[in-house]
Amino acid sequence: MNSKAESNLDSVRPRRLRRTPAIRSLLSKTYIHSNNLILPIFIKEGLKNKTPIPSMPGVFQHNTKSAEKLIEDALEVGIFSFALFGIPDKKDLEGKNAIDPNGVLQSSVSSIKDKFQDAVTVIPDLCLDEFLIHGHCGVLNSKNQVDNDATVAIYAEMAVSLAEAGADMVAPSGMMDGQVKAIRQALDENGHSDCSILSYSVKFASSAYGPFRDAVEVNLTGDRKTYQQDIQRSYQDALWEAQLDEAEGADILMVKPAIFNLDIINKLEAAFNLPIFAYQVSGEYSMIKTCADAGYINYTDTMYETLNSIFRAGATAVLTYGALDIARHLNA
Ligand code: PBG
Repeated sequence: MNSKAESNLDSVRPRRLRRTPAIRSLLSKTYIHSNNLILPIFIKEGLKNKTPIPSMPGVFQHNTKSAEKLIEDALEVGIFSFALFGIPDKKDLEGKNAIDPNGVLQSSVSSIKDKFQDAVTVIPDLCLDEFLIHGHCGVLNSKNQVDNDATVAIYAEMAVSLAEAGADMVAPSGMMDGQVKAIRQALDENGHSDCSILSYSVKFASSAYGPFRDAVEVNLTGDRKTYQQDIQRSYQDALWEAQLDEAEGADILMVKPAIFNLDIINKLEAAFNLPIFAYQVSGEYSMIKTCADAGYINYTDTMYETLNSIFRAGATAVLTYGALDIARHLNA
């Protein structure tokens, strides 16, 4: 509405747009396509059968075999990108499994890439919380604080071993300072300049990661507020985090949680010439799913509504635990 029309309401034209299904489609600007959805998959070392995660109804811990079956199902409906999270048999204080060429992530990445080749894009999580007893994203120093630089060195090593296993992209999610730079340098020096970095650039310290911590069996001591983004900061602070990642060599910037931070997705999309991804995280999924299971809302409708708003905000692709459900619905 322009200001002239506002000052003289008599001259406001009534809307002449009919709302038939065909006209509604004609006017649509936001579309959800299964190719732009990324399915997160949890893989647990030594797991006999896929196991439901109680706080995430409909989501399972997998072994490599059941993950591959899930990937086949996803490919059938046009999802070919997978974010992998590993749960090692044994957690320790150094994160040994995370850099082991035969670690849970490395072996599932190589098995999946051997089987599906470039028909799939495999994006392992590059973080240590799944591997450490205390559940922080990095190793601790003698004062029991997360040691940024020691952690970054391990991330760099982990990145190389994941690239060697066949990862198409690595996704650093630990929010350590300088992590993207160190990872990019290590990848390049070790012949993996074609392995991309999907950086969790703006990752808020959120309560919406609760169910994820069940899924990866992390029993966190304390919180992550010393290294994750503070929800009460200005949006400029989020832009600054993203700017650093871009300068350090990130190929794609990610924002999470998604539906709580649509403003940030939108601001990043306007400010950067890199693709912006968003993660509809475990708590967002479980809020929708459990509410729908109780009969209060419709699961599919709510998923569509939230995904549309995330894409409309400017995301190019979305990680969501509802990816397969929505892709099946789109293909039905
Ligand atoms: C860290 C990581 C987390 C998520 C993705 N990567 C957890 C955290 O930071 O506590 C959360 C994803 C979700 O909640 O679905 N490895």
